[in-house]
Amino acid sequence: MTSIEIIDLLKTLIGKAKGASKAVMALQKILLSLLLSLLTLLGLGLVQPSYGETRYKKFQRQHVDSRGPGGTNLYCNTMMHKQGMTRPTCKEFNTFIHENIGTINNICNAPNIQCKNGKENCHAGVVRVTDCNDTKSSPPPNCSYKATASTRRVVIACEGNPLVPVHLDR
Ligand SMILES: *[C@@H]1O[C@H](CO)[C@@H](O)[C@H](O)[C@H]1NC(C)=O
Ligand SMILES: *[C@@H]1O[C@H](CO)[C@@H](O)[C@H](O)[C@H]1NC(C)=O
Repeated sequence: MTSIEIIDLLKTLIGKAKGASKAVMALQKILLSLLLSLLTLLGLGLVQPSYGETRYKKFQRQHVDSRGPGGTNLYCNTMMHKQGMTRPTCKEFNTFIHENIGTINNICNAPNIQCKNGKENCHAGVVRVTDCNDTKSSPPPNCSYKATASTRRVVIACEGNPLVPVHLDR
């Protein structure tokens, strides 16, 4: 190899290295902007992370058991645990509604009334329920509940278009 050949070779290698680092930098820029737009979308709530839960889904998990009939302490103890309300603390009070989801959603079409928080997006209906009240006699996650079965007036908050229940007010 002549010195001219070596210099040519070095020039070529340096050129390739520069090209490569330019490519890496371009890739980093693209990844960064993708990351930023994803964060923006998450922030705006336009993209629901797969592990996330809509308020409607949460309402269903905590308050809807169409199969019923419920009504026993054992039912409350089992369901409160199964539906994730005994960690990290025992949820003190929770109501399961034993009606079809369609019947429950339909309560959103009843006239608007005021919620406990002062908002006007609440609606009342009469449904079969099991109320579960923590007896405080057993620490989490093995919480112990007293069940009360009844057919009673419930008040739910609704949101969206179409309106769906997102909160059990009382
Ligand atoms: C739960 O039970 C306690 C003790 O009997 C009672 O004081 C409380 O009012 C009950 N909570 C609800 C929301 O009914
Ligand atoms: C859970 O609590 C109940 C009632 O206090 C008790 O009978 C039962 O043995 C406990 N179960 C476990 C696994 O600790």
